[in-house]
Amino acid sequence: MAKNVYSGKTVWIIGASSGIGAALARELSDRGARIILSARRENTLEEVLGTLCGEGHLVYPLDVRDVYAVQSIIADFQDKNIAVDSVIFMPALYGQHSSKGHDIDLIHQMIAVNLTGAFNLVHYLGPFFKKQGYGQIVLCASIAGYRGLPMGQPYCATKAGLASYAESLKLDLKKDNIDVKLISPGFVRTPLTDKNDFPMPFMIEAEDAAKAIADGLNQKGFEIHFPKHMTILAKILRVMPGFCYFWVMGIILKKITDK
Ligand SMILES: NC(=O)c1ccc[n+]([C@@H]2O[C@H](COP(=O)([O-])OP(=O)(O)OC[C@H]3O[C@@H](n4cnc5c(N)ncnc54)[C@H](OP(=O)(O)O)[C@@H]3O)[C@@H](O)[C@H]2O)c1
Repeated sequence: MAKNVYSGKTVWIIGASSGIGAALARELSDRGARIILSARRENTLEEVLGTLCGEGHLVYPLDVRDVYAVQSIIADFQDKNIAVDSVIFMPALYGQHSSKGHDIDLIHQMIAVNLTGAFNLVHYLGPFFKKQGYGQIVLCASIAGYRGLPMGQPYCATKAGLASYAESLKLDLKKDNIDVKLISPGFVRTPLTDKNDFPMPFMIEAEDAAKAIADGLNQKGFEIHFPKHMTILAKILRVMPGFCYFWVMGIILKKITDK
């Protein structure tokens, strides 16, 4: 896609301190956008800021679990007449769900960040965009939300919830000139996947994920999914009847555990 297509546009990326969010900030700034960077770690956001192209980018530290912090940032945008074209929600906590014992606090935190965090955001962003007269809300789920995966109980559930939420939002906000998109990545090399000790087929780099997202944001489609080899396989699994899905997954699991 042509450079400078984002010239004059402001994109707020939440979860911009590492991985796909940080790479996306670099990619969109390279395409001419002004970026607002948010996540919890302010020092890391400042480091990402130093790698962006162009000028005028802003840092707003934010913990999405804190609904009042979301409210205060959006009030600040209003006070300072900062127009925002697109908001991309990337935050996620992830951990494999062990069969040996579950950490219920971690499960609560995952739900609070991955799912409730998105509700916290949209609760204040919706009225802001309605007043502005336009806007784009982009929620990052995962192909892990297509079906329940082994060892993925809370993560898969939050991502499935997020995808459903994005669909409802798209239907509800169209009349207000607010575009809603869903991002469904396959495996991407980031600090999140560095924790995994199982095979991750068709894994791509965060920079390639960022390019796919930046291209998709300007297109008509609702879902931005990549890499296609992986997401097409996942989509086939998604449309399988339950008995077929559990049979296929049983074979895959056996192959992995027998290795
Ligand atoms: N990597 C993959 O293979 C993959 C696949 C499918 C979907 N995804 C999704 O892609 C998104 C980005 O993941 P990633 O792989 O780039 O992981 P990552 O490098 O771990 O990035 C996660 C980001 O979320 C931020 N974050 C975490 N808790 C937060 C909170 N309470 N408030 C605000 N920000 C918070 C982190 O920053 P702070 O720690 O500074 O807050 C960080 O910037 C996630 O939604 C993930 O589920 C990733």
